[in-house]
Amino acid sequence: MTTEDFRKHAHELVEWMASYLENVEKYPVKSSVKPGEIFRKLPEDPPADPGSFTSLMNDLEEIIMPGITHWQSPNFFAYFPANSSPPSILAEMITATLAAQCMIWETSPAAAELEEKMMLWLREMIGLPESFEGVIQDTASTATLAAIITARERISGFRINELGAAAAGTLRVYCSEQTHSSVEKAVKICGIGRSNLVKIPVKDDYSLDADKLEEQILLDKKQKKKPCCVVATIGTTGTAAIDPVKQTGEICKKHGIWFHVDAAMGGTALILPEFRWMIEGCENIDSFVFNPHKWMFTNFDCTAYFIKDPDSLIKTFEILPEYLKTRTRGQVNDYRDWGVPLGRRFRALKLWSVIRSYGTRELQKKIRYHIELARQLSDMISGEPDFEILAPVNLNVVCFRFHPRGTKEEQLDKINEKLNHILNDSGKIYLTHTRVKGCYALRMVTGQTNVTLNHVAKAWELIKETARDLNG
Ligand SMILES: Cc1ncc(COP(=O)(O)O)c(C=O)c1O
Repeated sequence: MTTEDFRKHAHELVEWMASYLENVEKYPVKSSVKPGEIFRKLPEDPPADPGSFTSLMNDLEEIIMPGITHWQSPNFFAYFPANSSPPSILAEMITATLAAQCMIWETSPAAAELEEKMMLWLREMIGLPESFEGVIQDTASTATLAAIITARERISGFRINELGAAAAGTLRVYCSEQTHSSVEKAVKICGIGRSNLVKIPVKDDYSLDADKLEEQILLDKKQKKKPCCVVATIGTTGTAAIDPVKQTGEICKKHGIWFHVDAAMGGTALILPEFRWMIEGCENIDSFVFNPHKWMFTNFDCTAYFIKDPDSLIKTFEILPEYLKTRTRGQVNDYRDWGVPLGRRFRALKLWSVIRSYGTRELQKKIRYHIELARQLSDMISGEPDFEILAPVNLNVVCFRFHPRGTKEEQLDKINEKLNHILNDSGKIYLTHTRVKGCYALRMVTGQTNVTLNHVAKAWELIKETARDLNG
């Protein structure tokens, strides 16, 4: 493709992109293709001869688009959002065009220094103290893995990196029963072992029971096990429960344990001063992660990882082969030393674009609105006698179920599962489920970039209507 062809197709593509964004609501939110359907439509062999971009776009429309689930639809209420926004998309276009590999300062000083500045901006926006330094990681899973490995190295005096897992005895990691599976994955793959992840019971509001946490720590110490890391969550995946950061942090400090906070989705709400109570006691946090790629309108992937003692992170991850030695080492941040991958995308650019384009005030307004939508949805549900709210409504998550009068408890899971499938198969809305106290719960998240009260109210009417039809 010549540069002239590129220019022509890029203009056409921008038209396609804008019209997709304008019309995203018209697509069925959840793709309804069957397993293998897309695969079978693709040729067995790669083409031997050059093909045109126009033919690729035709195949995109015919083969690929039917297999896309439209995360940017305002009728997407599933999982947690993976929001984008026009300023973020534009910045991604620049990142793709520059195609800089930003592994160290010298491979693009602007990328490293913009990243450093964006982390300072974000730190200020979410109210973390100045003692924290930040780095952009790909996902929260990677950041949590980095946190647990750093905790492992700190407790072992950096000996596990040298001698292997046997060098430190039995290390223990703690989190609540409601914690995201990325913590289990990290403990499993970092040599601590899944059996050494202790899942602490939760209270009635699904937040970590910090008293039970301390009891478990004391018991482990008595048995000569070594408490290594505690993970608390701000906005759990199931119900958006908020673990007690202050009390947990004090326990960690008392027992010399690394304290990691996973605020993957909920961290964005910290840009609102009225939600800062969620990180009260943050001076005892060692590491903190949140995803602008979930709720802060920034294309996947973009994870903000903050750490109080970056030296321990760097000591854990740095490696210095001859070909990576530079004259600026020590004077600048070489972010390849701040996590697992060597190669790094220029992710700071889209954050810069999002924050500049909205400004903090407009970001706050949108996040506040999303939280208000969850409250209004919860009121609508509470007002219907055949429905019930199953968990406290925190942030942007509402867990509920259809409970027609007179229906036996043991039938409710099946009814709600069926309701969920019918709703999602309709293509009109997409929501996912969780289990709350063992019950199948429908779960709606009002955090999509362009969701409005109108979308939420229409979704709720559809849910009620479908439930009524299901009940005969
Ligand atoms: C609380 C929590 N932590 C971590 C993750 C993992 O996020 P990522 O996909 O960025 O690894 C999720 C994903 O939904 C989550 O809800």
